[in-house]
Amino acid sequence: MVLGQACYTLLIILLLLAGCRTLELQPQQKINISIYYESLCPDSKLFITQYFYPAYEIFSNYLNIRFIPFGKANIREDGSEYTCQHGKEECVRNIIHGCALDMLTSTNQVEFVYCAMIKRTIMGHKECAIQNGLIWEDIQNCVNGERGLALTLLAQYDTRISTDGPKFVPTIIFNNKFSQENQKLTFRDPISVICKYLAFHPQCDEPI
Ligand SMILES: *[C@@H]1O[C@H](CO)[C@@H](O)[C@H](O)[C@H]1NC(C)=O
Repeated sequence: MVLGQACYTLLIILLLLAGCRTLELQPQQKINISIYYESLCPDSKLFITQYFYPAYEIFSNYLNIRFIPFGKANIREDGSEYTCQHGKEECVRNIIHGCALDMLTSTNQVEFVYCAMIKRTIMGHKECAIQNGLIWEDIQNCVNGERGLALTLLAQYDTRISTDGPKFVPTIIFNNKFSQENQKLTFRDPISVICKYLAFHPQCDEPI
């Protein structure tokens, strides 16, 4: 009887351990992170290049990243009067980002945005696009065509319904739900917020 109970306890422990193992591998365990940013915004550049990218390099297997290049911009439904926080130049770059993101898949999206936020110039954006396997003419066609406008309107809609304004750019949203607490923490320390969701990850075991 006692032996039976011991075996039963052992079985439960083994099941729990097995459970923890498989959790690490399940895709639904991934965190969704949406980054609402502006292409010429200094805080967006700071966050993406100094804080987010290093965290992404550690946790990429566990993250679904979505970039939304719009921020505090404004565009009319018919596409006229597109105004951006950092001027006309930013509007052009936002559309380039939107078109490139539309043509790229996950890892390349992160690499493109990281590269473009550092380079800033249009020529730099072209280099970043080519590095990630895109054809610059395709992007130009998108930027100057219906697709670029549709993507910009979609970015505006997404930004307005998902963020708190946004009051601050970049706004970073975990698992599709805005949280002021996560927002404040993430800006300088995305790893601490990622670790709230991925407590089992070895990099989260000790204070970083
Ligand atoms: C992540 O986003 C996808 C679709 O965008 C959604 O189906 C899924 O439920 C989200 N996961 C979490 C944990 O919120």
